[in-house]
Amino acid sequence: MIKDLQDKILKLKKEKDVCILAHSYMSEEICEIADFTGDSYALSLKAKTAPQSTVLMCGVRFMAETVKMLSPQKKVILSHPDAGCPMAEQMDREIIAEVKKSYPDYAVVAYINTTAKLKTVADVCVTSSSAVKICRAIPQQNILFIPDINLGSYVRSQVPEKKFKLLSGGCPTHARMEKADIIAAKAAHPQALFLAHPECRPEVVEYADYVGSTSGIMDFAEKSSAGEFIIGTENAIAEHLQYKCPDKKFYPLSKDLVCHNMKITTLPDVYNCLTGAGGEEITLDEETRLKAVKCIEKMIEYGG
Ligand code: 13P
Ligand code: SF4
Repeated sequence: MIKDLQDKILKLKKEKDVCILAHSYMSEEICEIADFTGDSYALSLKAKTAPQSTVLMCGVRFMAETVKMLSPQKKVILSHPDAGCPMAEQMDREIIAEVKKSYPDYAVVAYINTTAKLKTVADVCVTSSSAVKICRAIPQQNILFIPDINLGSYVRSQVPEKKFKLLSGGCPTHARMEKADIIAAKAAHPQALFLAHPECRPEVVEYADYVGSTSGIMDFAEKSSAGEFIIGTENAIAEHLQYKCPDKKFYPLSKDLVCHNMKITTLPDVYNCLTGAGGEEITLDEETRLKAVKCIEKMIEYGG
């Protein structure tokens, strides 16, 4: 049944010249039919180079908007119209434009998990895998980091030579994890290494043997000589790793580490997008796109 649907999807995407990009939080069955899977940074690079005329983004809205910004000539479809990212919606452009007035000599560094509108007031974008490198590389000494206070705290700890102003936004899925969760997981699996996403709170990240993006966590676990891992990011990553490395053991940090926005896209949704019966075509007004794309291009330039 799943295989039949996957075969139909593979046939349709070829016929219709569609590139399917899937964030690593998508289910195994979606990742299997994607042209490319990866973290937010890798997906934004692919968005620029994919030769197909249409891109179907299986992920959340800000990811599809990023593709549209970088490839305005392409038709870009978001896999499910309700796949938003609550963190991306947390801060308004108007509020940040106001805050900027109090910090005139600060560079606004925006996590890519932001709306296109908010990106219009940012100087540079970052992803979890590129944030440390980019904050070190930009010429400005002072950084106003939005919207994730947890990622911002982690970056600040890695870039002590710069001054950071953080605001209190964050990912509700990762921020749900508490110190008690990692203490319990470590007690249950004392031999396991703990791999954490920097969207987790600092008191959780403190216990990590490795901190990185979704792709960083997967690479680390695959290459590591260790045999057991506690996975401190969305539970899809523990599942993918278990498929890739059947001889190793992967334990989700908590059964609650689930992003319902990422989980909303199913394989039938992907099929419906290709038949024209589902998904949402992303459109951006040209003024917003031109202003917002600058900080993504800066990210690619510094993150190279
Ligand atoms: P990365 O894939 O860049 O690690 O981001 C995780 C995430 O929360 C995406 O929404
Ligand atoms: Fe947004 Fe968090 Fe879900 Fe990523 S995991 S899409 S940051 S809510």
